[in-house]
Amino acid sequence: CGIVGYVGPQQAAPVLVEGLTRLEYRGYDSAGIAVLNPRSTAHPSRVVRAKGRVRDLEAALPARLAGTIGIGHTRWATHGEPSEANAHPHTSFDGRVHVVHNGIIDNFATLRSRLAVDGVELTSDTDTEVVAHLVARELAGQDGAGLGFEDAVRAAVAQIDGTYALAVLDTANPDRIVVARNGSPLLLGVGDGEMFVASDASAIVRHTSQVVLLDDGDFASVTPDGFRTFTADEEHTARSAVTIDLTVEELELGGHAHFMHKEIHEQPESVERMLTGRLDDRFGTAKLGGLNLDPRELRRFTRVKILGCGSAYYVGQLGASMIEDLARIPADAEPASEFRYRNPIIEPSTLYVVVSQSGETADTLFAVREVQRKGGTVVGLVNAVGSSIAREVDGGVYLHAGPEVAVASTKALTHMSIGFALLALALGRVRDLSHADGKRIIAGLRAVPGQIAQILAGEEELALAAKELAPAPSLFFIGRVRGYPVAREGAQKFKEITYRHAEAYPTSELKHGPLALISPELPTVAVIPDDDLVERNVTAAQEIRARGGAVVAITHPGVELGDAATRRIEVPRNEVELDPILLTIPTQLLGYHAAVALGEDVDRPRNLAKSVTVE
Ligand code: G6P
Repeated sequence: CGIVGYVGPQQAAPVLVEGLTRLEYRGYDSAGIAVLNPRSTAHPSRVVRAKGRVRDLEAALPARLAGTIGIGHTRWATHGEPSEANAHPHTSFDGRVHVVHNGIIDNFATLRSRLAVDGVELTSDTDTEVVAHLVARELAGQDGAGLGFEDAVRAAVAQIDGTYALAVLDTANPDRIVVARNGSPLLLGVGDGEMFVASDASAIVRHTSQVVLLDDGDFASVTPDGFRTFTADEEHTARSAVTIDLTVEELELGGHAHFMHKEIHEQPESVERMLTGRLDDRFGTAKLGGLNLDPRELRRFTRVKILGCGSAYYVGQLGASMIEDLARIPADAEPASEFRYRNPIIEPSTLYVVVSQSGETADTLFAVREVQRKGGTVVGLVNAVGSSIAREVDGGVYLHAGPEVAVASTKALTHMSIGFALLALALGRVRDLSHADGKRIIAGLRAVPGQIAQILAGEEELALAAKELAPAPSLFFIGRVRGYPVAREGAQKFKEITYRHAEAYPTSELKHGPLALISPELPTVAVIPDDDLVERNVTAAQEIRARGGAVVAITHPGVELGDAATRRIEVPRNEVELDPILLTIPTQLLGYHAAVALGEDVDRPRNLAKSVTVE
């Protein structure tokens, strides 16, 4: 979910709506805003909510919605179906308090029944609504002796177990927003005589580049002239603003039909940028100062465990094979969401690597904490600068992919795999990887941007292949060893945005079961690089063809496919360890063009959100 807030001289509603549009990637089941207008006695506050997108909210807004302070929210449903009643902001029983919330309140059932005993009836199925009532109760107090606004929020929050980023309005204090953070991202934007509140900086970049990143346990009282941060014990904390490096242009479509398309095409340039200053030709290694690990410390690790969610986990698998190949250290990847709940064994000699575009995925963040609690060393490959994960890890590598807006990740994933190549190089060069091999990998990495551009130049051919695949209700993506994570990510992308069932399988396992499904109705995308397994992969493709299945082969120049493929998509060859980075690129365009052909909402797939900041 996304939160935005404004207090200052401007009309709040347009600022809030614009901010919500930028945050829409965080969830788009419903949206709403609350605006205070102390001059109106009839309507000291107005709340407008709508099921659906921010544009649906915009359509529902009255022509005049005066007020210079307000909060807004775009939702990804956790408790309660997407509906107007469940949309935020939620309002207290007495109409005095409005709340937007991101996170999950674990003890909401208890709080709910406690409120029911007091005769407060809830009007939604959300966990958030209880917060509005709790704050209102503290404000009203017993016998009229209520608390002040900030204290009331503190007292309400003290009753909550769970994760939250909260922004609260009180009609009786129409000059301020009170916010609280625990486990869900929240920051303040500092303007000139105006202040902003947001889940992430993209909501407010148009207005300011000065932001204050709040920490878990922080509260803040925000007025036009500034802010005050404090803790649950009413102790003041010193938080200062930092400058963020983000421009409005980076958040615009810039002539592309979709953000996903724009982001796919940004890759040659963004990868070039990511590599700048990180390749050490003299020693044939990678310069990763942010890891905070000197060569001797890097040598100490005897195992690498990679943790991430969704696509980041699949790239983690790719990363694990790069690390095994180049550093010869046992490495594997696991979904962070599973790892954190299974009482994992944390070894001091294992290097834990978390990987995340947003740096806010709750499952990944909690995996970091689990590792740290048990004394492990954890580094991050993270895109969002200053995000929660980036701040909590012991060291890391920023991915520098720039903002990614489309829910389906593309360029950030490519940057993750490059990040793993750099890490593998650094780990390899303090072990057995030779200087010459280090230089070979460096040369390979330098070639990647140009080679991605070459693949993108073949977009038309890929669009044709995608159009052919699109009508199939179900398809396979297959690959083996280094090609298997490529297939997994390819299938993930395809199903996320086309809603077609796409299943990834190791090519080697096909004959042990799923071959039974092959028919003319079920096409396969096969990753067939020119490596030592090429003949076996071609044979497997032939087995599919023999059963009437179509095969789209993603392969290298010179590979003899014969009649094993119905369509051939070539990617330029790089070093064998780095090839998977390039083999993934066509799968991005296959998914994209299939979704376009099907008329789906490419950038906003149903039921998903870009960063899942709840557990
Ligand atoms: C969500 C998104 C996925 C993404 C995953 C991890 O589930 O829908 O596309 O791969 O989170 O996101 P992260 O920001 O941690 O890379």
